Amino acid sequence: MASTPPRGQWSGQLGFILAAAGSAIGLGNIWRFPYSAGEGGGGLFVLIYLLFVLLIGVPVMFAELSVGRTTHRNPVGAFKALVPGSWWPLLGGVGVLTGFCILAFYSVVAGWTLGYLFSSFTGMLGNISTNEASSALFTSLIGNPGQAILLTAIFMVVTVVVVRGGVSSGIERMTTILMPILFVLLLVLAGRALTLDGGIDGLVYLFKPDFSELSMAVVMSALGQALFSLSLGMGAMITYGSYLSDEANLWKAGGSVAGFDTLIAILSGLIIFPALFSVGAEPTAGPGLVFVVLPTIFSSMPLGNIVAILFFMLLTIAALTSTVSLLEVVVSYFVDEKGWNRTRSAVTIGAGCLALAIPSALSQGALPSLSSGGIFGWDFLTLNNNIWGNYSLSIGAMLFCIFVGWKWGIPKFLEAVESAGDRRIPLPASRFVGILLRFVCPIAVLATLVYIVVTGSYF
Ligand code: PHE
Repeated sequence: MASTPPRGQWSGQLGFILAAAGSAIGLGNIWRFPYSAGEGGGGLFVLIYLLFVLLIGVPVMFAELSVGRTTHRNPVGAFKALVPGSWWPLLGGVGVLTGFCILAFYSVVAGWTLGYLFSSFTGMLGNISTNEASSALFTSLIGNPGQAILLTAIFMVVTVVVVRGGVSSGIERMTTILMPILFVLLLVLAGRALTLDGGIDGLVYLFKPDFSELSMAVVMSALGQALFSLSLGMGAMITYGSYLSDEANLWKAGGSVAGFDTLIAILSGLIIFPALFSVGAEPTAGPGLVFVVLPTIFSSMPLGNIVAILFFMLLTIAALTSTVSLLEVVVSYFVDEKGWNRTRSAVTIGAGCLALAIPSALSQGALPSLSSGGIFGWDFLTLNNNIWGNYSLSIGAMLFCIFVGWKWGIPKFLEAVESAGDRRIPLPASRFVGILLRFVCPIAVLATLVYIVVTGSYF
């Protein structure tokens, strides 16, 4: 690795945990989780999602971080360093492409968040108390083509500016104070939602599995959600791990990130579902769900307008720390492997991604041929969300487990995780992680995919 140019590094273990949690916590928790859970029938989806977080997400998190830290490279370079001359770097390449394509629809939804932030400043959200009024606002906000593209573009520009600034100065600072505030605010909102009339029905919906809802489409969507939410399956955690020093405790860092992320997703479910039942909205409303349901809670709170401003501000920042990690994966590839400088990479890739984001931005009503039902029964944004966010991440994670479990090998993986001698976990625990990586993860993902292909139940 003598040719590696000097790389940035996190200022310490806490800085890393915050940055990685910043990547993981984002629209995946607050926008994607509730709407996927609503479409997947509630409690059963949540149960399968939690199982996947524990059995697949957490081990893959350790594996990605250890590969990143050992090689100090981007996803492609990491495989090149560990298995030179093989096909494995191609897997890293697919990860980089996946990051690019996820960013292209994620930035659109991040743009909606920004739009809601602006609307909350003008006081527009303060008096929306019915589901109908809220749906109308959502439709007018995202159905306006110029506005949808402009908001996406603003978000992309800010992401590019942060990534251009480099890892520790740009990314780390932002999360340090804001994540705890977001957490407290979510607690307050959950408290409000649960005490609304009919709120308890939402709780039951979220936690009581209805096994008659079981289908492979639900299993797939829960698997995709677990990986998406933890930023796994495309190399973001390889990239973030690559900026980690050898002293950091990976078990602790990876475990805390996964724990925080899952907690935030459940918390956001505790806000959305009670509120949804109390205003009589449909759990299956799709990508607009959160944006439609939230304003109705704000209007039922004292100082609701201020709470709305604060909430959308924090959500915008949470989204930003995730878009930054998506762009960072692609940028680090071009910087390390192609010798581009950070500025050129960030600007070029950001511009390309914005171009690809435009069809998604127009797919929520502005352009009927790209909107609901237009493409195989889907809108362009949801289609991309499924292809890249569920399928590509799942296949990526499966192949990555096969790599770590069978090619690189569990002994080397454990050595890399426990590089500082005092960082061991009890032997049975590390054996268990090994078994999950070698057998459980690849088999579970493969079985799901095969079943879906055979039965044709794609989405
Ligand atoms: N985990 C992020 C979120 O929940 C999204 C993301 C996915 C970021 C994949 C990086 C990689 O919002």
